[in-house]
Amino acid sequence: MPRMTINGRPVEFDLDPDMPLLFALREAANLTGTKNGGANFDDGGSTCECGACIVLVDGAALRSCRITLAEAEGRFITTIEGLSRDRSHPVQQAMVAEQAIQCGFCTPGIVMAAAGLLSRNPAPERSEIEEAIQNDCRCGVYPRLMGAIERAARVSQRQESISAAPAPAIDTKDAAEAVPALRVVPEPEDSGT
Ligand code: FES
Ligand code: FES
Repeated sequence: MPRMTINGRPVEFDLDPDMPLLFALREAANLTGTKNGGANFDDGGSTCECGACIVLVDGAALRSCRITLAEAEGRFITTIEGLSRDRSHPVQQAMVAEQAIQCGFCTPGIVMAAAGLLSRNPAPERSEIEEAIQNDCRCGVYPRLMGAIERAARVSQRQESISAAPAPAIDTKDAAEAVPALRVVPEPEDSGT
């Protein structure tokens, strides 16, 4: 069974080693921040180019629909859920500050691609950003996106700072109630014994 480390946790998947990592993350590990923009399990996801599924594999931004569990064996995977615990990564902060998000479907893949770029090239040229961020965005956030990633690079290099984005205006309990599979289980009543 394929073993790997995901967001700092050693895990073992009791799944077909030929399954693309994307499906294991979303369907088995419940890490649904990684999006499926068109990968099909039957064709191994090999025809999709959208980039919505990008995660970091040993620090490199890769499309998780293109990697099988067998190929991920022994590697360190970081998903959007593991990039930061409080959305404080410079790319996340800059994306919010520059309003480079519309529907948000493409955002996790873009954030991971940008985080991978900045980890190997802290001060990329505009052309290097364009080359690294080949993600599809049907909402068309590209102009703001380029500025956001350039700003994230400056923040990473401590040339400027961004005030932390506010916490989401939804209680986690309310969010769970909107998703039956995540329904909050009430605490058992104290029997007094
Ligand atoms: S889901 Fe589109 S490239 Fe992976
Ligand atoms: S923000 Fe909607 S697809 Fe990119």
